[in-house]
Amino acid sequence: MLKDAITNISVKLLYGVYFEKDVITRAAVFCNDSEETVQLERLMSASIDFMTGDYDLIGLFGHHYFERQTDRRHLSHGINELGSFRGVSGHFHNPFAILCDRNTDEDHGNAYGFALMYSGNFIFQAEVDGYSQTRVAMGIHPKQFRFTIHPGECFEAPEVVMAYSDSGLSGLSHSYHRIFRENACDSPFVNCKRSIVINSWEPFHFTFDSEKLLETALLSKELGADMFVLDDGWFGARDNEKAGLGDWVVNEKKLPGGLQAFSKKLHDIGMQFGLWFEPEMVNEDSDLYRAHPDWCLQVPGRAPARSRHQLCLDLSRPDVCDYIISAVNAVLDEGGIDYVKWDYNRYVCDVYSRYYPADQQGEIYHRYILGLYRILDGIVKTHPDILFEGCSGGGGRFDGAMLTYFPQIWCSDNTDAPSRLVIHYGTSFAYPVSAIGAHVSACPNKKTGRTVPWKTRAVTAMHGTFGYELDPAKMTGEERNECALYSECYRRHQDLIRTGDYYRLSSPYDNSIFTAWQFVSPDSSESLVCVVTQDISILDKNSYVHLRGLSEDAFYEVEQTGQVLSGAALANIGLLLPSTQPQYSAFIYYLKKQ
Ligand code: GLA
Repeated sequence: MLKDAITNISVKLLYGVYFEKDVITRAAVFCNDSEETVQLERLMSASIDFMTGDYDLIGLFGHHYFERQTDRRHLSHGINELGSFRGVSGHFHNPFAILCDRNTDEDHGNAYGFALMYSGNFIFQAEVDGYSQTRVAMGIHPKQFRFTIHPGECFEAPEVVMAYSDSGLSGLSHSYHRIFRENACDSPFVNCKRSIVINSWEPFHFTFDSEKLLETALLSKELGADMFVLDDGWFGARDNEKAGLGDWVVNEKKLPGGLQAFSKKLHDIGMQFGLWFEPEMVNEDSDLYRAHPDWCLQVPGRAPARSRHQLCLDLSRPDVCDYIISAVNAVLDEGGIDYVKWDYNRYVCDVYSRYYPADQQGEIYHRYILGLYRILDGIVKTHPDILFEGCSGGGGRFDGAMLTYFPQIWCSDNTDAPSRLVIHYGTSFAYPVSAIGAHVSACPNKKTGRTVPWKTRAVTAMHGTFGYELDPAKMTGEERNECALYSECYRRHQDLIRTGDYYRLSSPYDNSIFTAWQFVSPDSSESLVCVVTQDISILDKNSYVHLRGLSEDAFYEVEQTGQVLSGAALANIGLLLPSTQPQYSAFIYYLKKQ
């Protein structure tokens, strides 16, 4: 504990040590034991000094449709900063950063990771001072943050999960994957096989009826799906983006008999039922807004900034949180729902709450996030039999705190496989593959217009929780056969994908020939290798993929080629890829120790 002798104000530093995982967590609690009220304007969760060393900083940046791309830069003198000021951890910068030696690569060198367990505004600073020493600080972004702490009160800053690897970036990622899977996530589903989902959004958007949906569910069951997810559009007057958000009451014109009747029909054909919600938002054209116009964040007397025609509900208000908990639970408590996709589709701005006095407005960004966690506790934790998946305009709220509630998070609205290779690569530095929501969608892709083979789309979606986002009625016979084949392939290998050690075998930024990744079982007895070719230059040369994580002196049979090769040969020489393959061909190899 650090105590100021004059004012009696103290800061307690809280540490958690996960010795086996090379992880230390650190949080800070500010306590006002003085006789006066204090305004807290900045409290970093961690502040760490690196007395020696010359470092690179790796951050994850991006935008809607292109989340978590990697950026590696040399730390120069002065303050190097990453952060979000959008009320949400965000598409633009992720609350995760790596400091590493200049020559650190996937297998060698020191790497230090910092992940903030928080879903709102954050800041990460690395200051290289005049003596070339580096000070790292991470916590809630101090901009527009001002918390009133009365005598006797405390303020808790969120935890930073710090990991260290002396064997490069793969080792660091393994620590994060394990800590998020084994220690952070509270969901009982984190250790379970996941259902193969078919989601209604890309094929139907807001235009559907129950007959069309049931036909889709039936067809997709034949192709290997286990669960039908009804995305946006099932409630209130939600026929487009402009109306209905906030009114969590089924639209019986689309679903006669309601959700229960629809769920029963799905269950009768052996399909589970999933449902989309966006509980934190409201359209002005909704019964909720008409009844409670003061329930959204809005500066009085000024026109609010709208995004996707919606406003943010004011989660700093206890009555709004209570409403959301009871409205969503009223739907879930009727039963018949096996999965929820929890969406969040705009950034926070106009941060003014009509519930609090003017001098507390600097608390609203943080109170929003505390309200959100209270809502999630009241909905997610009271329904342990429902699998909850996070989402935010694709993957805009992919952070450690969200992973405590959601064992999987939709990674991006961009389902184009070559784009996903880059997004999955960046996401994997911090977050486990078991958390990455990835689906096969129709081609030409709606976002990029690109057409790639079915196998490539399937192998890419196996870098995650696997599912579909298409209309099976529009598929050719050949596509249907491939679909059934890869559903089966995912089902067979999903334990290895979910729990195996994950290796980035090549970077989509540096290797223009192929992107490859590998899963290795914890005892190194089996492995799955996935490759997507990037460039037709593979036509002219022998390309080898160097494998990792295998026992050097053991022999492995490669199921697809029948070869038996030593772990040493697979690491040092590699697996030879077939030549004469067009761009965006995919290969998958399963290896079993002899
Ligand atoms: C967001 C999600 C999509 C879909 C739509 C529905 O964009 O990322 O997957 O659920 O909302 O409005």
